[in-house]
Amino acid sequence: MFDLNTCIRKNILDLQPYRCARDDFSEGILLDANECSFGSVINDCGIEYNRYPDPRQNDLKRRFCDLRNKEHPLAKPLKPENMVVGVGSDEIIDSLIRISCVPGKDKILACPPSYGMYSVSAKINDVQVVNVLLKPNFDLDIDAVYDTLSKDNSIKLVFTCSPGNPTAKALKLDDVKKLLAHPTWNGIVVVDEAYIDFASPEKTAISLVNDYPNLAVCQTLSKSFGLAGIRIGFCLTNPDIAAIMNSLKAPYNISQPTSSLAIKALSPESVSKMYEHRDRALTQRDRLCKEITAIPGVGKIIGGLDANFILVQVLSKPVNGVPSNDVARFVYLKMATDHKVVVRFRGTEPMCEGSLRITVGTESEVTAVLDTFRRTLEEYYSKN
Ligand SMILES: Cc1ncc(COP(=O)(O)O)c(C=O)c1O
Repeated sequence: MFDLNTCIRKNILDLQPYRCARDDFSEGILLDANECSFGSVINDCGIEYNRYPDPRQNDLKRRFCDLRNKEHPLAKPLKPENMVVGVGSDEIIDSLIRISCVPGKDKILACPPSYGMYSVSAKINDVQVVNVLLKPNFDLDIDAVYDTLSKDNSIKLVFTCSPGNPTAKALKLDDVKKLLAHPTWNGIVVVDEAYIDFASPEKTAISLVNDYPNLAVCQTLSKSFGLAGIRIGFCLTNPDIAAIMNSLKAPYNISQPTSSLAIKALSPESVSKMYEHRDRALTQRDRLCKEITAIPGVGKIIGGLDANFILVQVLSKPVNGVPSNDVARFVYLKMATDHKVVVRFRGTEPMCEGSLRITVGTESEVTAVLDTFRRTLEEYYSKN
């Protein structure tokens, strides 16, 4: 049963956020923040670099809500009060841990194979990680997670990833709902939706944000919007959790150039471009899946087809082989060193024996990856 007042750390609940004069007055002769009144030493794109950026990022929040509300008409639409803007979703992940987990005492639950930053961030914060593996089909093992939560009330957060990295599979919303409604556990369910724009629209959990007090959905401009370089991530959550996360963050975490670029990225023209890039990626993903599995020695695409990457098995022999980490490692290293085509070896992740994760590239990049994959595998089998 979720209770914000006992789930959130006491020192964070008691926090008086940093306030500046500009929270109340932002126009006129601004001599309140010890900035340089003579302007900045560079003059670029009409941005006033000499001024601190907006700590609340309300314009950016409103535009992101407008986009998601348009894509998914919701009974309870998202509002800026539902949002936190972070320096990538990595900052959001860290912030969720810091608001809820007492270092050295509390825990998070993760569901490997999953995104590595959940446990890295937990360890940085001296927070233990309890792992409950996904099922072999990469769905949540809902009964096992449920039981673990029933037995351990020091778990404050469950990190799920949908579509998963490296699984590329979206989770079932019914499973997420079951966790959110756990009768005894007092914690927050995180659904990391970094790749959601590549999945079909009904798979997002944002429709649940205003129905549950303990859901935090992470999204980002790094993937479908092609803006990994500017570092913008969002948390969509209940206004009470958002207010707490906003009070914890550094006041000026989002820089002025980043904020302006993110606002531009949410214009109708930029959003159309995002859809166009997404559609091109999906076309190349279908082609990659079809052609890569026809290469002798390539096994199954394991996981789903909900992201802009695939997870594919490499086999010990071209005929009747079994998934092999030796071969996958060889292919990974050889492709990177001899052909300058870099994919990701994921064979040491649970249930991912012999697997490589391949991002869907442009048409010519997919041609290059297919060609080098085939040649590298032929080379391995001819020598072994
Ligand atoms: C599942 C997942 N979440 C979050 C991130 C990080 O996103 P950001 O660039 O917004 O920090 C990644 C990046 O690869 C990811 O795969």
